[in-house]
Amino acid sequence: MRLSPVLLLASLLSSAYAESKAVPEADEADFASDLALAEAALAVRTVPKYFDERRLEKRTNPGGTYAPTYVSCPKDSSGDLKTLVREASSISNKENAYLDGRHAAINEYLPTYLNQLNMTDFDAETFLEDTNITIGIAFSGGGYRAMLSGAGFLAAFDNRTTNSTNDGHVGGLLQSATYIAGLSGGSWLVGSWAINGFPTIADLQGDEDVWDLSHSIINPDGWELWDTAEYWDYLLDAADAKRDAGFNISLTDYWGLGLANQLLNYTDGGPAVTFSDIRNQTLFKNFSMPYPLVVSDGRPYNTLIVSTNSSVYEFSPYEFGSWDPSAYAFIQTEYLGSTVDAGVPVNSSACVKGFDNAGFVIGTSATLFNQFILQLNSSGVSGLVYDAAVDILSDIGEDNDDVAPYQPNPFYGYNEDISYMYNETILNLVDGGEDYQNIPLVPLIQPSRGVDVIFAVDNSADTDYDWPSGWSLTATYDRQFGTQANGTKFPAVPDKNTFVGLNLTAQPTWFGCNASNITGTNGGTTVPLIVYLANHPLSYYSNTSTFKLSYETDEVEGMITNGYNVATQGNGTLDDTWAACIGCAIIHREVERRNATHTEQCQACLSKYCWDGTVLSSNATEETEEPDVEITSDNTGGAGMLSWKSAQWGVVALAIAVAAAL
Ligand SMILES: *[C@@H]1O[C@H](CO)[C@@H](O)[C@H](O)[C@H]1NC(C)=O
Ligand SMILES: *[C@@H]1O[C@H](CO)[C@@H](O)[C@H](O)[C@H]1NC(C)=O
Ligand SMILES: *[C@@H]1O[C@H](CO)[C@@H](O)[C@H](O)[C@H]1NC(C)=O
Ligand SMILES: *[C@@H]1O[C@H](CO)[C@@H](O)[C@H](O)[C@H]1NC(C)=O
Ligand SMILES: *[C@@H]1O[C@H](CO)[C@@H](O)[C@H](O)[C@H]1NC(C)=O
Ligand SMILES: *[C@@H]1O[C@H](CO)[C@@H](O)[C@H](O)[C@H]1NC(C)=O
Ligand SMILES: *[C@@H]1O[C@H](CO)[C@@H](O)[C@H](O)[C@H]1NC(C)=O
Ligand SMILES: *[C@@H]1O[C@H](CO)[C@@H](O)[C@H](O)[C@H]1NC(C)=O
Ligand SMILES: *[C@@H]1O[C@H](CO)[C@@H](O)[C@H](O)[C@H]1NC(C)=O
Ligand SMILES: *[C@@H]1O[C@H](CO)[C@@H](O)[C@H](O)[C@H]1NC(C)=O
Ligand SMILES: *[C@@H]1O[C@H](CO)[C@@H](O)[C@H](O)[C@H]1NC(C)=O
Ligand SMILES: *[C@@H]1O[C@H](CO)[C@@H](O)[C@H](O)[C@H]1NC(C)=O
Repeated sequence: MRLSPVLLLASLLSSAYAESKAVPEADEADFASDLALAEAALAVRTVPKYFDERRLEKRTNPGGTYAPTYVSCPKDSSGDLKTLVREASSISNKENAYLDGRHAAINEYLPTYLNQLNMTDFDAETFLEDTNITIGIAFSGGGYRAMLSGAGFLAAFDNRTTNSTNDGHVGGLLQSATYIAGLSGGSWLVGSWAINGFPTIADLQGDEDVWDLSHSIINPDGWELWDTAEYWDYLLDAADAKRDAGFNISLTDYWGLGLANQLLNYTDGGPAVTFSDIRNQTLFKNFSMPYPLVVSDGRPYNTLIVSTNSSVYEFSPYEFGSWDPSAYAFIQTEYLGSTVDAGVPVNSSACVKGFDNAGFVIGTSATLFNQFILQLNSSGVSGLVYDAAVDILSDIGEDNDDVAPYQPNPFYGYNEDISYMYNETILNLVDGGEDYQNIPLVPLIQPSRGVDVIFAVDNSADTDYDWPSGWSLTATYDRQFGTQANGTKFPAVPDKNTFVGLNLTAQPTWFGCNASNITGTNGGTTVPLIVYLANHPLSYYSNTSTFKLSYETDEVEGMITNGYNVATQGNGTLDDTWAACIGCAIIHREVERRNATHTEQCQACLSKYCWDGTVLSSNATEETEEPDVEITSDNTGGAGMLSWKSAQWGVVALAIAVAAAL
């Protein structure tokens, strides 16, 4: 009976109430606030607005179209089956074709942008003649915090945002960028934005049917249990249809369907909309937007820990795969799910389309379940609810259901001499942040992509108060010395003590300013400059919990505006040369390549923003106090530590509801 998860959830909640009242061993006040927060998290609101009608109307065709479908396999002009997989020795022809169009568009616009940034004593037109500058933008993981804070950066970078091209603002970086990458919560931003047709953040924010964040993904209708049950029914039916079509399903299917429902501008979240459909968006077809990438990690079967030696996989509208030697191959994204051997379809009339469902892909980048298990111990959840959750989560863990199984493995029988995936029937993917590289940098430091500068937006929760500490950069730095590096280089970065102690997370910091410090093959000016932009409270406490699953309108506004303020340094109020410095960062590698001298203005930017190699002694204490909001005091409302607790309840309820439904 399909209502059981909801009824179970309700009864668990009431027993949680009863229990916490009966066992007041923890601090009374803590309990009271826990209860209030649990209630707030799960009963998001009691009076549904437009929601019910919309869901019911959207649910007219439940299930059917989420199932992948079988098609005949593509053939070449002489009638032979095409190979769907290729070696990762270069970028694909299709990406190359996209870059031709994209570079042409950027070359036309970039001089205008650099002039808008008020660079002085610099002739942009002349400098950029016969030059392609390749800019990448990367958005870290961190749940909805990362999505919303990241959205503020994206809004600031987008010259279509109202007032974003004013003095002191930086709008146009997006229009100048070649690549944009997202991971986990950052993939919800980049993925949902691209799949929705690259709208402005203001449009997404203003459209109550799209970024539908005031309704929890677990329990969208609050105490309207019947409606929430209908919603779960829809998710279950949709996933069933995929199973009936012969595919393994996992928690990631429910998770992805729920995310799609919340984030994608299609009826029911677009059960038939695929990631490769981005190719068909007008702004992609006319090369107006950077090439979008979403990152996941490969996890070897039967292990819980993912190390920095894991394989990093990327999804693009054309291809899915990994540059790492452990796989070193790409398959066409639209044919994911097809059974292949050595890249060739096994049955010429049974290739698969629709497996690369858009929600499933952004869910794959964000399979946080594995981390829930690791964090439950310290979550403050206790008693019956804890036991139930541990049971369920451990089962899931043992079955390896906390991963997104990509089955059949697209790289079966491919690259025999090197690939770990050669004999595997399943490719298991997990959250892109599980190898601690929480910023999706690996695709952007591939020598074949030739990126000059990466704007690395870090919304990680590394410190006690859920602010970043530069840890993800350290992980990417370390990786270049491991077995998966395969020729990738990354500039030196300090440890997290230094990051926090030298305030490198409190203002923009550039790494790799001196290309000649990066030595060896593929070193020097071929390694991108890293412009590191960490989440910091300029106008709002944007350190909400990774597991906070619903946001009210004013919270969304606070998060986005804070991101906008970090990206623009308070629209130039913290540094009126910041916009010009962005221009200097863009041209920096090319200036180095030409052995040219920077303008005085750019030299000042380098002195101000480059990390100079200083490290603090390892016994310097890490700052543990929460930083103050810097530029306004009237717009604060986030409360990271408190929402963390409410989120625990949400997580437990999700696990219970899903497991009961399975
Ligand atoms: C710039 O990119 C275009 C398109 O990819 C290419 O044709 C051209 O040769 C490149 N120019 C330079 C100077 O590399
Ligand atoms: C930027 O340049 C414009 C046009 O030259 C000028 O009006 C404006 O004051 C400059 N802004 C800053 C912050 O220097
Ligand atoms: C844009 O700037 C103008 C003038 O400063 C201001 O009146 C308006 O409210 C701003 N619009 C937005 C959407 O920020
Ligand atoms: C924004 O960028 C596009 C190029 O992608 C350009 O055509 C347009 O004029 C720019 N708009 C503004 C307001 O600068
Ligand atoms: C969502 O789709 C509707 C209908 O196609 C469109 O009118 C609206 O602008 C879209 N919203 C966004 C944020 O793209
Ligand atoms: C999407 O674009 C691809 C190639 O760019 C094309 O083959 C396909 O038919 C298009 N799909 C739709 C639904 O328009
Ligand atoms: C694949 O499995 C076969 C049979 O177990 C074994 O002989 C072979 O060495 C394996 N190859 C690789 C690359 O793991
Ligand atoms: C990357 O790995 C592949 C496969 O092992 C190898 O052929 C290639 O030479 C490596 N590239 C570099 C730059 O090390
Ligand atoms: C870091 O910022 C804090 C607070 O603004 C300040 O007290 C401290 O001196 C700064 N440290 C450095 C090394 O700049
Ligand atoms: C910067 O501009 C944005 C949008 O125009 C606005 O929301 C924000 O409050 C401004 N920040 C400051 C510090 O004035
Ligand atoms: C720049 O200087 C380096 C080292 O001095 C030299 O190898 C290189 O050829 C020079 N490049 C140009 C464009 O002059
Ligand atoms: C880079 O090299 C210069 C000169 O050798 C040195 O002074 C500087 O500290 C180095 N920077 C970093 C970040 O290691």
